[in-house]
Amino acid sequence: MTTATGAAQLSGAPATTSKATLMATDYMTGFGNECATEALPGALPVGRNSPQRCPYGLYAEQLSGTAFTAARGANRRTWTYRIRPAAVHLPFKRIDNGMLSSDFQTTETPPNQLRWDPLPIPAAPTDFVEGLVTFAGNGDPYAQSGCAIHLYACNRAMVDRYFYSADGELLIVLQQGRLRFATELGVIEAEPREIVVIPRGVRFRVELLDGAARGYVCENFGAGLRLPDLGVIGSNGLANPRDFMIPVAAYEDRAAPSEIVAKFMGNLWSAQTDRSPLDVVAWHGNFSPYKYDLRRFNTIGSISYDHPDPSIFLVLQSQSDTPGVDSIDFVIFPPRILAMENTFRPPWFHRNIASEFMGLIHGVYDAKATGFLPGGASLHNCMTGHGPDAGTFAKASSADTSKPDYVRDTMAFMFETRCVIRPTRFALESAQLQAEYFQCWQGLKRNFDPTTR
Ligand SMILES: [Fe+2]
Repeated sequence: MTTATGAAQLSGAPATTSKATLMATDYMTGFGNECATEALPGALPVGRNSPQRCPYGLYAEQLSGTAFTAARGANRRTWTYRIRPAAVHLPFKRIDNGMLSSDFQTTETPPNQLRWDPLPIPAAPTDFVEGLVTFAGNGDPYAQSGCAIHLYACNRAMVDRYFYSADGELLIVLQQGRLRFATELGVIEAEPREIVVIPRGVRFRVELLDGAARGYVCENFGAGLRLPDLGVIGSNGLANPRDFMIPVAAYEDRAAPSEIVAKFMGNLWSAQTDRSPLDVVAWHGNFSPYKYDLRRFNTIGSISYDHPDPSIFLVLQSQSDTPGVDSIDFVIFPPRILAMENTFRPPWFHRNIASEFMGLIHGVYDAKATGFLPGGASLHNCMTGHGPDAGTFAKASSADTSKPDYVRDTMAFMFETRCVIRPTRFALESAQLQAEYFQCWQGLKRNFDPTTR
């Protein structure tokens, strides 16, 4: 168990004012750890979860993220001790969904290779929720299966406005601009090349630390993300559990007309409340937000010839009901040293049963010399042929493989899914769609000569 005490209030202001003064953040460590943290000494009840009267006049409330009866190793729940229960708000009313969509059924999905330029930072003031644009997805929140893939581009903080998704866990991949996530369970600050995961149902607001921000979100409708088993790799490697950072408890005791925006069954709903819902003074459990620095990934690859399947770059997985088949794999292509001899070193040409939505966080992706921009995206669906572009193939085919290649300045990622990823109408009609993307393979010439081996 990890214990932290003495964390600051989210707001130092007394209950009667609306001034927010966010204090410094602090973290506990360890993926899926059973944590215990209190922002006031003694706020956590000892020896029981639901005493007749909680310390400091707090309310006890459980937040469960898995079925009560889930196996112990997979069970996720957190007990919160808060100023008021989460139930204290006026009824939700439907609001406009903006650019969010959960309709992955009505637009025909082409088998083409697709690629998009980055979304521009909006000209008008736009917060994180307003700046979410659904590009693609599959499955259905109702069936608790599949995912929605959103891009975000925003330029203002959420003020007195809070968000949660009942549809899915949010895996947020920062690409530009640092963000501060003030959540019910504490504060996470993150920068590009870090990821943040907000569990299903956890309320939060997003503040911008650099004025503008852009990135990607995978909204996971299915089983919660977990670390993959390592098999013959052994007990260390890939994303190591200790590098996952969990916030300590922090709260605001702040009276202010506030809006709670819920994403529920694919639609946005809004409820009014008179106080900040970020009022959890203490909590314990293993259902919590976390962040992870992708630069800490222990990248493993071949030291002889060929390179392994990209599953060797798996950071987090959402498992399906079929053993060995994931609903979602979050995979990265980080800096690495390529030492394989007499081997075509970039990613090979391939067609997969899985579908691949890629983004570029930083630098250049080693299979594409041009056209795949930081903040951009690509989609290669089930059995759609793809691989290195003609220029990359020509260069790698004649490279000296007696010496290692140092791939330094890069960080790409993939949301890889079991089901076909269906782009939204917006994505297919977007000005950012690169109509000429297919051209990058047209320069691959016929080299075949039956008389020369
Ligand atoms: Fe691929």
